Amino acid sequence: MIIDIFGAGSLGLLFYSKLALTEEEIRLNLWTRTEEQASLIREQGVQFYPSANSVSLMDSLTIPAKGSVKPVSDIRQTDQNQKADIILVTVKQTHLTTDFVRQVGKRASERTAIICFQNGIRMDNLWRDQWQVYAGITTEGAKKPSAHAVVHSGYGETVIGRLVQGHSTADRGDESKGAENGQSDAILLLLNLWTKAGLNASLSNNIEMAIYRKLMINAVINPLTALWRIPNGELLQSPERISVMKRLYEEAIQVYDKADIEWSESLWNDILQVCRATASNTSSMLADVQQGRRTEIEWINGSIVEIGQRHQIAAPGHEWVCALIEAMTTKEAD
Ligand code: PAF
Repeated sequence: MIIDIFGAGSLGLLFYSKLALTEEEIRLNLWTRTEEQASLIREQGVQFYPSANSVSLMDSLTIPAKGSVKPVSDIRQTDQNQKADIILVTVKQTHLTTDFVRQVGKRASERTAIICFQNGIRMDNLWRDQWQVYAGITTEGAKKPSAHAVVHSGYGETVIGRLVQGHSTADRGDESKGAENGQSDAILLLLNLWTKAGLNASLSNNIEMAIYRKLMINAVINPLTALWRIPNGELLQSPERISVMKRLYEEAIQVYDKADIEWSESLWNDILQVCRATASNTSSMLADVQQGRRTEIEWINGSIVEIGQRHQIAAPGHEWVCALIEAMTTKEAD
């Protein structure tokens, strides 16, 4: 089986290490953004820390390259029989461009399952209709202390479900077709491998609900941690902070209701629980701001504003955080 991983950020390196450690007969190709990172991994492998504690104990495993490790710009058209069975796309929304998707397409055939692990929902119909595209929502915790090292900082769960093409922002203002029932062999093999790797994964017939749940969690936690420059757990440390979180939450719920997006009664508590479970974590948006990188605000809070606009309901709180976050970064580091 051939598995290609696009993106060698924390999540990409985590999946790479865990799949390599299964010692199954798989060819694992890793596509990075830069040649610098690719050559480092080719020469020194990936340094994998199985838990947060293992970092202080300096207890890591070296995962040697198990296939090709190259920058995305080096992808060439390959023969049909060398195309990937499974493609995991772990790059940030900010890198998910038409050009990037064209490069991914060189590794895909009609039987390839492409699983996208993005925050936010505006995938803007980048994927071709004939491809089997899935969304992956994961709560696995991973940190990348250096370009070729990854820490599995917390165990979580991954839910995978088929995306209906052209409906990646499938709030019910559009006609939702629902997920297909039949799953490809590749997806079943991947779930099997995931279990062998000691990770939790399941298939969902209602991936849209999982996507919008994650969107809400990100829309409340990410901008506020980035604006206040605090780890996730500190959001809960004052009633004033909780009340700002609640305002963003309630505004988004009104948008969801107007757009007929399904949500669970436990959603507010789920947000609080994520803050507790990831208390010492730097959110991805705070990390982007700290590094002077472009954030995913447009795809997270911006999506809520956009769904609201389509359904004639304003989301001024989300508009404000978009403006505040966008004004924080003055340069693009990458
Ligand atoms: O983007 C992130 O950082 C994460 O999705 C979350 C859930 C906000 C926790 O840090």
